[in-house]
Amino acid sequence: MSKFISFPADFIWGCASSSYQVEGAWNEDGKGPSIWDTFVHTPGKIANGETGDVTVDHYHRYREDVALIKELGLNAYRFSASWPRILPNGTGNINQAGLDFYDRLVDELLRNKIEPYLCLFHWDLPQALQEKGGWSNRETASVFAEYASLLVEHLSDRVKVWITHNEPWVAAMAGYMAGEHAPGLKDPILGFKALHHIFLSHGLAAEAIRASAKQPVRVGITLNLNPIHPATGSKRDREAAKRMDTFLNRLQLEPFLKGTSPLQEEVLVRTFTKGVIKSGDFKKMHNLDLLGVNYYTRTVAKYDPKFPIISATQVHPQGTEYSGMWEIYPEGIYEILTRIWKEYQPHCELMVTENGIPVPDGLDLDCRVRDERRIRFLRNHLAQLQRAIKEGVPVKGYFHWSLMDNFEWALGYTPRFGLIYVDYKTQKRTIKDSGHWFAKVIQADGFELVE
Ligand code: FCB
Repeated sequence: MSKFISFPADFIWGCASSSYQVEGAWNEDGKGPSIWDTFVHTPGKIANGETGDVTVDHYHRYREDVALIKELGLNAYRFSASWPRILPNGTGNINQAGLDFYDRLVDELLRNKIEPYLCLFHWDLPQALQEKGGWSNRETASVFAEYASLLVEHLSDRVKVWITHNEPWVAAMAGYMAGEHAPGLKDPILGFKALHHIFLSHGLAAEAIRASAKQPVRVGITLNLNPIHPATGSKRDREAAKRMDTFLNRLQLEPFLKGTSPLQEEVLVRTFTKGVIKSGDFKKMHNLDLLGVNYYTRTVAKYDPKFPIISATQVHPQGTEYSGMWEIYPEGIYEILTRIWKEYQPHCELMVTENGIPVPDGLDLDCRVRDERRIRFLRNHLAQLQRAIKEGVPVKGYFHWSLMDNFEWALGYTPRFGLIYVDYKTQKRTIKDSGHWFAKVIQADGFELVE
């Protein structure tokens, strides 16, 4: 049996990327160092000692890359601006060459009828700001709003969608609490402080963006959200899953959708955030036109008293499918979107701003990349997304992660997430079978699903 999985004719089909992961040119044309430049050059931080110094050289090859976006038939491209490329010290002196790059990129996109979705921060904080505490310093939130204004003054005649942050939770927890990402700190108090200040910076930037915009614009944020399932039906595991849900999902959703936070419910968190949260902060965050959901996997949680605050840990169930990084769980995209819709009734637009799978792809002798596994992943996730839309959840778009293979943070170049294969030695780009498949879906606004 087969059925056609159809999407609305005005559905936004896009791909996503981020400055540090694709641009390269890490110290060219007046760019200042970011915390990722510092982190990757610190021995032992990145798999195989790899860096994003060159990565896929998008800074120089953006024209070719935009042509590929066009060839795939995408109508939107989500990318991020590198803050230290524009403001080498995070604030103060402007690097005109940096601004010029985003000017050229935006113009090239628009010339090809591709809508730019510009994200202001995808983790590459100027190193100069880290010297003053980075996101653990409240001042960084105000400086971020100034950077937002600058870019909006410059580009809002052409850019209509402004995403303040990509996955603040990961930036704070992996960067300040777990130490796996830049700046590589391992302090739970700093983790919560950083999270709060990034959230706050969204609110301040949203105000600044609206004040400086040259035309009506939409302000968004993208969050990493997972449905959380208890490992067993026991009361202890169910409660553990609930705490995990508070720590990951409610913590991120409530400030932006309700202007409140579950933070204060936990005694320990209250201690961690003493003096950090000021009156009115959560209200400021409640300023959003577009909520972007980055969905990759679910979390299965069990009770474990060893873990502070949440007394819960993640388990990896047997008998399900895994990629090199995560469990593959297509129903999760349906679960998280319907849950947001039912529980929060958001007034803002909803989109999937990231979803994808790392596959160890390689070029066959006939120069084709036969990434059947990615096609299957896409098919199953898009079918679940369409199920949510059919049930009334107004999801307006889907951005695949990623356009091209690129630098995957601490894991370096081993995970390949692209619809386009990159030979890192020659920088040659080749559209994978999945890219061709996705292009057909976009053209037909759907696909045939064989059950
Ligand atoms: C997300 C990040 C993105 C990419 C994907 C695989 O958490 O936003 O930069 O690394 O994971």
